[in-house]
Amino acid sequence: MNERLDGRIAFITGAGSGLGRAMAIRMSDEGALVMCTDVNGSAAEDTSALISESGGQASALELDVTNEFDVDEALNKAISEFGGLNILVNNAGIGGRNGWEQTLSVNLTGVYNGLLHGAPKLAELGGGAIVNIASIAGLNALLSSGITLNGVPSSGPERSAAYVASKHGVIGLTKQFAINFAKENVRINAICPGYIYTPMTQNLTEKEEGREFLEALHPMGRLGEDREIASAAAFLVSDDASFITGVALPVDGGYTAR
Ligand SMILES: NC(=O)c1ccc[n+]([C@@H]2O[C@H](COP(=O)([O-])OP(=O)(O)OC[C@H]3O[C@@H](n4cnc5c(N)ncnc54)[C@H](O)[C@@H]3O)[C@@H](O)[C@H]2O)c1
Repeated sequence: MNERLDGRIAFITGAGSGLGRAMAIRMSDEGALVMCTDVNGSAAEDTSALISESGGQASALELDVTNEFDVDEALNKAISEFGGLNILVNNAGIGGRNGWEQTLSVNLTGVYNGLLHGAPKLAELGGGAIVNIASIAGLNALLSSGITLNGVPSSGPERSAAYVASKHGVIGLTKQFAINFAKENVRINAICPGYIYTPMTQNLTEKEEGREFLEALHPMGRLGEDREIASAAAFLVSDDASFITGVALPVDGGYTAR
């Protein structure tokens, strides 16, 4: 592994599970010091411990991204503990089954809080890169699987609407902040993952009919792996992406090409 991110300081939300954990580990593998944050503080600690055990440098904080004050404070703590900040990943998110208010609060306001406080700090510190984790649901509407889980439909218009609206919003925020900070050496991009094997999709993927439904949505005929999102994120925050800002990059096995 080359060390593209050698000595960079990365702050990741929702780092206790799934994509957040995979991105934390990948950025550490590429040389970054990682502040792992999550509303589930012990899960964030676990990710930090995994990194330390494999020789990387990491720390953990409990952080609920819906609280603007706490986001600001956590970013300041990372800056004082590690002595700077170069990378911010606004990844924390939940599925639409949590209802309109909660879904918008975590998935959209949470990302806004990160951008609002993170982008100016990066600018002040000389520049950096931000990645927001949107979704294919930030580009297209979602198809209903029609599958029932524990007596409840796995997806429905209200659930999909909340998730789709929140993720379309993340792409809007990405573009707006990208142009606002373009001259301040802060690049801001979004990743739009297709369906990936993580705890978030486990309800569906552990059922054969659920997995087959999801596989068929991707022209590549399979779901993605968390490391495939992590490698895209590591690229976007690295100098290899030095002229890329304001994009929403699908990493989706062709899902949005149809
Ligand atoms: N898995 C997929 O198929 C998929 C596809 C597209 C986009 N995404 C997006 O990727 C991101 C990560 O999802 P995942 O699949 O890793 O899910 P996950 O459930 O495995 O992990 C999400 C993490 O976010 C944390 N979290 C939840 N609410 C929070 C809050 N208020 N503040 C801070 N942390 C909070 C959880 O504790 C958890 O550790 C989400 O934004 C999700 O919408 C996932």
